[in-house]
Amino acid sequence: MHIRPTLAVISGQPASGKTTLARALAQHLGCRAILRDEIKQGMVMNHPGHDPDGDDPLNLPALEAFFATIAVLVRAGTTVVAEAAFQDRLWRPGLEPLTEFADLRVIRCTTPTPTIARRITDRVQSDSHRAAHGDRALLADMEAGTYDPDRFVPISLRAPSLLVDTSDGYAPGMAEIRRFVLGPGREAAS
Ligand SMILES: Nc1ncnc2c1ncn2[C@@H]1O[C@H](COP(=O)(O)OP(=O)(O)OP(=O)(O)O)[C@@H](O)[C@H]1O
Ligand SMILES: [Mg+2]
Repeated sequence: MHIRPTLAVISGQPASGKTTLARALAQHLGCRAILRDEIKQGMVMNHPGHDPDGDDPLNLPALEAFFATIAVLVRAGTTVVAEAAFQDRLWRPGLEPLTEFADLRVIRCTTPTPTIARRITDRVQSDSHRAAHGDRALLADMEAGTYDPDRFVPISLRAPSLLVDTSDGYAPGMAEIRRFVLGPGREAAS
């Protein structure tokens, strides 16, 4: 018997815990995680003097490589965890065609804004790679009081979706996230 693969999409606003959850979930399932920011970072290294702020010319090629990679895997029948901010306008056009090959499961990471501000402050101080992701601009917004969490518009696709609180570990926990991603048929098969 062959069942369709799952495309588990991890989305959420900056510092909501997407990358951490994508890695943990992929490891838990034993499958591949494709991370948009890793693909982008791999491009940034080959563009000396790259300026992460403003209209970043690497965003579009990174996006294309991200979706192309996912497409190869799901067309081959492989379940995959895909992680990106997944704002509606940018991502829906990339995700929609993949639903021909995979069952989509959308996970939205969430945590209160003060927690997000603390996480971003911490990593700007400790991790120079983050400069590539516009953290400083985000912090400036937060300090100026102009950061609006509602400007993050989550993807609206007709797919089951699960809200995961990442404030301290995961609520619901990994076992329930796994059930949500795999569904009863695949749980038995894995
Ligand atoms: N489940 C969690 N429980 C507690 N702290 C967490 C959790 N997930 C993430 N964090 C903290 O939040 C920080 C940011 O997490 P992560 O890098 O996964 O967020 P992100 O959504 O991928 O951010 P970005 O969109 O900016 O890439 C981590 O460095 C960690 O300190
Ligand atoms: Mg991330």
